[in-house]
Amino acid sequence: MNCYHLRTNPGLEPVLAAEIAGLTAAGLTTAASVPDAAAAGRSVWADTRTEEVPRGRRGWVAVTSPEPLPAVAFDELRTVYEVLEVAATVPVPAAATTDGDRYLAMIRDLAAEVSLPWPRPAESFAVRCLRVGNHPVNSPDVERTVGGVVAGASGARVNLSAPDVTIRADLDDDLLTIGRLLGSPTRDRRFTWAYRPRITLSTVVAAACLRLSAATDPQHPGAHPHDPALPAGAILDPFCGSGTIAIEAAARRVRDPDVPWAPVYAADIAPEAVAGTRANLAANALARAVVVRRADATALADTWVDRGIGAIVCNPPFGVRLGRRLNFDQFYRELLDGAAAVLPPGGRLVLLSSRRRGRLNHVIADRPQWWLRGVHLIEIGGVFPGIFVLERRDVGAIVRTTPGADIDPETGARAD
Ligand SMILES: C[S@@+](CC[C@H](N)C(=O)[O-])C[C@H]1O[C@@H](n2cnc3c(N)ncnc32)[C@H](O)[C@@H]1O
Repeated sequence: MNCYHLRTNPGLEPVLAAEIAGLTAAGLTTAASVPDAAAAGRSVWADTRTEEVPRGRRGWVAVTSPEPLPAVAFDELRTVYEVLEVAATVPVPAAATTDGDRYLAMIRDLAAEVSLPWPRPAESFAVRCLRVGNHPVNSPDVERTVGGVVAGASGARVNLSAPDVTIRADLDDDLLTIGRLLGSPTRDRRFTWAYRPRITLSTVVAAACLRLSAATDPQHPGAHPHDPALPAGAILDPFCGSGTIAIEAAARRVRDPDVPWAPVYAADIAPEAVAGTRANLAANALARAVVVRRADATALADTWVDRGIGAIVCNPPFGVRLGRRLNFDQFYRELLDGAAAVLPPGGRLVLLSSRRRGRLNHVIADRPQWWLRGVHLIEIGGVFPGIFVLERRDVGAIVRTTPGADIDPETGARAD
């Protein structure tokens, strides 16, 4: 059996597993990525098995396959940072856990037994270690120790900044996982950024939020007729910042000619974000795929009614870097009431919330027009936001304001 570990954000394992399940489903081939398999009329994913959080490795999903999977087979996945071809997952004996030198000696012995396609002598390599739990050593110790084994076995030289081959030696409590990365170690960096403030969301989280805005049941009014990863109708991100969610949504739609085109809208209250999103779209040849404008997300009904919006997907201020002085009760009330006026029954509002989750829960509980389908608690670099998935119920009189006018895609100005 060939084993691969795929890294996503902790908490997003079920979303990545669902994405893989979409590839393994009957009828889907990997035509785009693996022409040989497509030509043979089969999917390389057909006989694979998927396991979330393998042996307690949070943030990882394991795929086992009777046939080796080529690196390109993973290129279709949007919610993954890196793919590890696993050579061994072995427990480090407890006897070694108090003495750093013994512990490293044990790791050296375990690494030396591993059978892995080591780098060729002409290639450069780096060893990386992700450590979860308490150990008598730190990550650079492990990287140097395993690096010594790899250099000795392969004759390859170390290059930490731009290695040809990246080896992982990860420790999850008493478990050592050793493997080699397949393809790019930064599969999430799929776009070019002209404007990238610190608040920019990762494309992996953006792709996950988009998936969660889509109904998986094909009979559901919010289900896309062809693509289970996207909602039906137009997509709106009213807090676009640098535009990650809109860029990810537009790239999917543009990439797949079978997916009928529906508009993607992006808006922000800050003029620099509006200009930055436009610059980012242009840098990725997506300028015509998204309408960007300046608008206040706490008054969605003023701008977005009757535009065929099927889902609202966004990452509003958390109140940490942005929005420290916001009244979050009022903010979430206005956002939810505006979204209820814009979305049809079955339409979803997917939003990230961090410290003010309690306020958001409180506002949702007061509003019968929203059904809280679920909250996915995830980790993003030491912060633990929740992805709230809300669905518009078919109840309650929603006050609709005047329908918005058409927007010029180039200038963002109203046409009336
Ligand atoms: C966390 S950032 C969004 C980051 C974005 N997802 C990205 O990838 O770059 C929140 C954004 O909301 C915007 N914002 C704050 N209050 C707003 C409001 N009332 N209406 C619209 N945008 C607002 C801020 O200007 C900021 O760009």
